[in-house]
Amino acid sequence: RIFLNLLCVAFFCALLCGTVSSAQAATVIKLGLVTPPGSAQNITAEKFAELLHDRSAGKYEVKIFHSGSLGTETEILQQVQMGAVEMAIVTLGPFDTFVPQVKVVSFPFLFRDYAQVDSVLYGPLGDEVLALLSRAGFQGLSFSENGFRNLTNDLRPVHSVADVKGLKIRVMESTLHKELWRTLGANPTPMGWPIYSELQQGTIDGQENPLWVTWTSRLYEVQKYLSLTGHVYSAHIDIANLGWYKNLPQDDQQLLRSCMKDASVYQRDWNRTQLADFLAKLKKAGMIVDEHPDVESFRSAVLPLKDLPMYQEPETKALLEKFLAAT
Ligand code: PAF
Repeated sequence: RIFLNLLCVAFFCALLCGTVSSAQAATVIKLGLVTPPGSAQNITAEKFAELLHDRSAGKYEVKIFHSGSLGTETEILQQVQMGAVEMAIVTLGPFDTFVPQVKVVSFPFLFRDYAQVDSVLYGPLGDEVLALLSRAGFQGLSFSENGFRNLTNDLRPVHSVADVKGLKIRVMESTLHKELWRTLGANPTPMGWPIYSELQQGTIDGQENPLWVTWTSRLYEVQKYLSLTGHVYSAHIDIANLGWYKNLPQDDQQLLRSCMKDASVYQRDWNRTQLADFLAKLKKAGMIVDEHPDVESFRSAVLPLKDLPMYQEPETKALLEKFLAAT
């Protein structure tokens, strides 16, 4: 009988432990991005995962699918929209197919410097843009930083806009970026990321991205010339599937937002403190750098973009006016 009692106690203990441990099992959040570990998106994602794990006492675990293991940014966005993936960090480029109004943020030469970026994009106006994402089935959590984009190519030094003429430039899958480079005289080719082999094979002559991308994706191996054009401040957008997010307890929704905003602050600092180092490394790797291109020639060439039909849609136009007034 004693043996039987012990067996019962052991059985109930096992049952109890099982229940407790399954009640404690973390909710796994899948988060997709296209760049590798060490990239800006990954820095944001890892910080977010760490903050959310700590602040929720282990209730949430973020599984990062990096390096495009879930597909291109457009494909990742489709998966988040359908709810197959809960979260993503993507560039704004492909996003304007989903919510056209976001293209105002990437308007060329909109932001003068990081101080302006921080007060305007990471302030109430940026929150206004994030609020628009719900109409496409996304919850906007925060913006984070890709950085000011600079032109690279393998054919010739580019000092002024006249030197761009005829260059085959890879652009993000975005109407704005395509129009921008057409306006500048290039031959733009929209494609997803990565693009190393296309540059290596010469299918395209150049590309444009922040310095960290040119360094971490080893583009200096296949691109000779770099011009610090800084033509677009490129943001990442950190999003969740709307339905999934809305089903979380209110406190957890708030927690996700604050963890992502804090991860963004951390990542921006990471990005900016390393700029000089990235530039030095690119020069050392053999790139010929024009540090002071004729930016005015680019700025005046892109003025007509504002009058393109894509900026005439009333909501987009009004939003662009607000951004222009604030910058
Ligand atoms: O050019 C792009 O597609 C983006 O800037 C990249 C490299 C994916 C970083 O966000």
